[in-house]
Amino acid sequence: MSERIFDRLTNTFLKAIRGVSERIRPGWSTRNKAKTDEWRLMMLAYSRSLPGMIGFFLALLFVMMGLFGPFIAPYRYNEYLIIENPDYSMKPPGSYGFTMGTDFWGRDLFSILLQGARVSLIITFVTVFFCIPWGIVLGLISGYVGGKIDELIMRVTDIFIAFPGLVLSIAFAIVLPPRIANLLVASIPLRTLIAWLFAIEYRDALQLSGVLSLIIAMIIVWWPSYTRVVRGSVLTARENLFVEAARALGVSTWRILWKHILPNIIGPILVLATLDFGSVIITEAALSFLGLGAQDPIPEWGAIIYTGSQYFPSSWWLILFPGIFVFTAALSWNLAGDTLRDVLDPKTRRSIEFKVKEKAPRREKEALEKPLMAPIEAGGKPIRGTAEESKRVLEVKDLYVYFYTYAGVVKALTGVSFDLFEGETLCLVGETGCGKTVTSRAVTRQIPSPGEIIKGQILLHRSGVEVVDILELPQEELRKIRGGEIAYIFQDPTAALDPLYSIGAQFEETMTAHNKGLKNEALKKTIETLESVLIPDSEKLVKRYPHELSGGMKQRVVFGISLSNTPRLLIADEPTSNVDVTIQAQLLDLLMKLKRDLGMTILLITHNMGIVAEIGDRVAVMYAGNIVEIAPVEDLFKEPLHPYTQGLLRAVPNPLKRVERFESIPGTIPNLINPPSGCRFHPRCPYAFDRCPKEEPKLVDGKPGHQAACFLVTPKPNQGK
Ligand SMILES: Nc1ncnc2c1ncn2[C@@H]1O[C@H](COP(=O)(O)OP(=O)(O)OP(=O)(O)O)[C@@H](O)[C@H]1O
Ligand code: SF4
Ligand SMILES: [Mg+2]
Repeated sequence: MSERIFDRLTNTFLKAIRGVSERIRPGWSTRNKAKTDEWRLMMLAYSRSLPGMIGFFLALLFVMMGLFGPFIAPYRYNEYLIIENPDYSMKPPGSYGFTMGTDFWGRDLFSILLQGARVSLIITFVTVFFCIPWGIVLGLISGYVGGKIDELIMRVTDIFIAFPGLVLSIAFAIVLPPRIANLLVASIPLRTLIAWLFAIEYRDALQLSGVLSLIIAMIIVWWPSYTRVVRGSVLTARENLFVEAARALGVSTWRILWKHILPNIIGPILVLATLDFGSVIITEAALSFLGLGAQDPIPEWGAIIYTGSQYFPSSWWLILFPGIFVFTAALSWNLAGDTLRDVLDPKTRRSIEFKVKEKAPRREKEALEKPLMAPIEAGGKPIRGTAEESKRVLEVKDLYVYFYTYAGVVKALTGVSFDLFEGETLCLVGETGCGKTVTSRAVTRQIPSPGEIIKGQILLHRSGVEVVDILELPQEELRKIRGGEIAYIFQDPTAALDPLYSIGAQFEETMTAHNKGLKNEALKKTIETLESVLIPDSEKLVKRYPHELSGGMKQRVVFGISLSNTPRLLIADEPTSNVDVTIQAQLLDLLMKLKRDLGMTILLITHNMGIVAEIGDRVAVMYAGNIVEIAPVEDLFKEPLHPYTQGLLRAVPNPLKRVERFESIPGTIPNLINPPSGCRFHPRCPYAFDRCPKEEPKLVDGKPGHQAACFLVTPKPNQGK
């Protein structure tokens, strides 16, 4: 019954919001339908939680009492009921006309408790709402900017946290009141405003100086905890792959902070704020109980308990009733906040929702779990002739990337050079730690700290005419390229998708980051793109959240998001290593289809030689931060020139040759802080000779289009690069 009432209220409320916003900005509700539907779901989910509803109604009651208490109370707080209570004695509850009895001055207890809610409400809201924005801004700056600014902010918060909060509040509450009282005496408008806010008489406003100093003391004591929580959450959130994915897709820093980091840290802030509502109510009552807050005749719960304690046990009602008010108000915020946190997190929200309603129809669920359509077509053959015949999309020249770690400088890339041609798939292979990921990230200048691109050029041929060096581009230009002309698919789809946003919202963000005009068509285009990546029932899928999808489905969604702006170059870093073999085959078919249909250029990083043979056109073999061999796939498998590639192919099944016995390469990959001199492979190479440790071999053409960096490879005349 109450659910139905709440549902109706929710619908009416949202209808009103849509109506008002439609008047202000025509078309708003259509554009933001997904968002308002989302709000509706949250409100419905909230209404299904019993503790949440109890907390909500009690907190609402507290707010209402604070707003209207002074006007609906049977008596004013300063009405000393001499006529009704001529002997000034404290009347117990139930006495004629006094439901909760009277206090020492003969005032109606129920009336002063109602009016006391106003004082509590103002103290709580002003304290918490001053701390939150201040704490969030400082925490965001500290966590995201880092460095010296982070140091400074943290040291200042340390100083504040080092003082015991209650002692500091008491000290302020002792020192400040006379100064505040002077200020109120000097400023009539301020005194009038304060009297109006607290709904008391003008002459009594001076008695509030203790309460005002309490507010200041509590703000000073409370803000550092927000800064610390926000900073900690930002540090965690900024390492999330979905934040990196957003950066790779060209989303601006402010948008990343606003859309990806802030919503992801809202949970901890909300929990803290909720607990603080309760704590502020209790602290304020406790300090007033110590005589540091409100002074008579200000109606304040803590002060009433203090008076009651002097007449205990005879006037027990002066402790019991204000105690119930304080306890209930504090509890209500905790209950409401806990439920709100669950509702804001899509994972827990769905579990609340599904308990009662909004269950996905069975048909929809089945469709989502159904296997994909039949594989499109087995891939395998190079789609083009020799590389030289095609247009270049990317030229990487002499690229150096170092990581400045405490242990030393990691020379991750030392002189990497390669070209990418239109419509080809170049596979990067090599043992772990050889620099594949660093190479792919350098293409859009996404080297994580403490890494730096030391030198080199990354030339992007834009639309075949303009050539730009990505390493020289201003940030804004680079942002347009990321996610627009160059898209990434990361290894882990779960981490690449933001858990707080529906699939549709994540598509929309990537599309509109590069083309604001697409906002109105985003949904249509998303559905089309999802269909192109073989996702059944795409219209339903756009409303779902990452955690509701299987691993294979998520990776297809990541494919779809990367493709949403039809990039010219797709960089996929081990895109199938996290899924099982069936899904892997489907994703590879999908990659082939995209390449065939859209003529996309692909830089594919993989450990799997079978995948290289299946979908690669050319392959570049990396070893210890360098490319040691680069060749068309068939040439490489048939006749590898570099001893490292030969060793690599003997260690894994060769798709083009039968290998009798697998052999591992002796030794381990070198430490890149102190890499071996000369040819980096020489400590492991069975053919090493005296020249190898002294000199570094360069890539030379061993055969047409087939280069290797080894002294044993004889360069073909007139074919060197
Ligand atoms: N953030 C970092 N800090 C320090 N060193 C790093 C960092 N990221 C990468 N490196 C170093 O750079 C080198 C290349 O790493 P990269 O991640 O490119 O290897 P990879 O070939 O992708 O390996 P894998 O196959 O395991 O993914 C490694 O020696 C690694 O230790
Ligand atoms: S240059 Fe020397 S050490 Fe390096 S791969 Fe060739 S033979 Fe081996
Ligand atoms: Mg890697």
